[in-house]
Amino acid sequence: MNEQQRKEMSQIKEVSSSDKKSSGNGNLNRLKQMGSDDLINKYFQTTYEPPNLKKAKKRRREEVQIHYDYSVPEDMENVGKGKKFLIRTYGCQMNEHDTEVMAGLLTDMGYESTDDTKEADIILLNTCAIRENAENKVFGEIGHLKPLKTENPGVILGVCGCMSQEESVVNRILKKHPFIDMIFGTHNIHRLPQLLKEAMFGKEMVVEVWSKEGDIIENLPKVRKGSTKAWVNIMYGCDKFCTYCIVPYTRGKERSRLPQDIIQEVRHLAAQGYKEVTLLGQNVNAYGKDLKDMQYGLGDLMDEIRKIDIPRVRFTTSHPRDFDDRLIEVLAKGGNLLDHIHLPVQSGSSEVLRVMARRYTREEYLKLVKKIRTAMPNATLTTDIIVGFPNETDEQFEETLSLMEEVGFESAYTFIYSPREGTPAARWEDNIPMEKKKERLQRLNKLVNKQSAEAMQEYKGQTVKVLVEGESKKNPDILAGYTERNKLVNFAGPKSVIGEIVEVKIIEAKTWSLDGEMVEKAVEVK
Ligand code: SAH
Ligand code: SF4
Ligand code: F3S
Repeated sequence: MNEQQRKEMSQIKEVSSSDKKSSGNGNLNRLKQMGSDDLINKYFQTTYEPPNLKKAKKRRREEVQIHYDYSVPEDMENVGKGKKFLIRTYGCQMNEHDTEVMAGLLTDMGYESTDDTKEADIILLNTCAIRENAENKVFGEIGHLKPLKTENPGVILGVCGCMSQEESVVNRILKKHPFIDMIFGTHNIHRLPQLLKEAMFGKEMVVEVWSKEGDIIENLPKVRKGSTKAWVNIMYGCDKFCTYCIVPYTRGKERSRLPQDIIQEVRHLAAQGYKEVTLLGQNVNAYGKDLKDMQYGLGDLMDEIRKIDIPRVRFTTSHPRDFDDRLIEVLAKGGNLLDHIHLPVQSGSSEVLRVMARRYTREEYLKLVKKIRTAMPNATLTTDIIVGFPNETDEQFEETLSLMEEVGFESAYTFIYSPREGTPAARWEDNIPMEKKKERLQRLNKLVNKQSAEAMQEYKGQTVKVLVEGESKKNPDILAGYTERNKLVNFAGPKSVIGEIVEVKIIEAKTWSLDGEMVEKAVEVK
């Protein structure tokens, strides 16, 4: 069968869902048994809803349910015995953590993990949609997988994560990459066992992408990467709708886990010997806003978590708008709450911030920084910045540079604006030439490097506490780890301190890392 024939033969099949509320683009029932092109057209005309700001904003009223009854279906329990899986992860920490959940589900089915594509019986691409180049990488990888499928038709190839939530992506895979066996979204990861069953025993491509915002599924198994640091999701989704951003559409509405479920998870990690947890959310300090009948926010949650016997607690990513006094007051108590705050600013111009719908001005951001610095004088601040937003003038870009200096950010993730289909900004004229955007990015990066190097210099001669993660990537004789304020430190030391917190005296400061010497023996820090 040639590719064209295969494409025509390929059908989308709905995977029957036990959840009656799962509607929208997951509902392909009526469309079974049709030819692929017809099917694709119908699918998108009748059941798929592309990102729609007005509709998405109404979603907050929908009720979220928390499920505690997850288990792998009996007939899938041993299906992976003697088989291997590989998951490639793109994007942010939420995706990294989703990969840990999928690894948990696959392990529960008997699969083992592998790094070798040739050995794998299942390959999943957990994708990111945040910028165009993130998507291009994934399509490149999909292309690379094709010969693998030809060599080994039994291998199951799946695409999941944020790109799967986009109409254009699903459409492109259906039309151009019919050798993919399954596509599923961010709201139905827990259905991986059922989807896999369909992909294994059916002949059609399995597509299940829910536009339903997603409930919260507790008790999902996880295979965490490493035994020192752990991610803990405290909330899902984002309701901020910054005008450039795809996340509110790919991750759905904000929904918080219950405090007791989070606290129990952190306690459990502490008991297992983890040294650091990072509380995760796309908009992590909006935590609790959706918990009805509870006046409970991130500050309250952190106030409880700080009492747990785990040496380090971080959180990411917070939005300046939701950074309230209660949170600052609790963070200032210190202890295991580390004084590194990642606080994306995006631009230094109030006008650009207004059209980005960030809901704060330059002045308000600076006021917040002042408040944080007053309460936590040693706090390290880092940020995210976008350059080349539609209509950004030279003067407005200069304001970003001056804000960078005024706040004294010690590092920043910097990006060229990338239009995302379905977002409001993508409909505006992208009128800054690419050359200019690149020039701005270069100038900004130069400043970021300078400020990072200066911040590193301060550490020379100081003794810092380092959570040792393992051997350095460049030299196996050197160990590497992070300080409380998230600075990478390389030093010589015995392998026995991997996973421990040790004191290191800083000898040399580079732009992005520090070199040091271990001070006598490891010290356990509470
Ligand atoms: N929820 C976090 C992080 C979102 S994604 C926050 O609000 O800060 C991480 C970063 O990607 C953002 O902070 C932003 O700087 C960048 N980003 C998001 N959408 C983008 C786009 N369309 N083009 C370029 N950068 C983008
Ligand atoms: Fe995107 Fe962050 Fe804005 Fe949410 S708060 S829309 S995730 S940039
Ligand atoms: Fe990317 Fe989705 Fe995270 S778009 S940045 S993987 S939430």
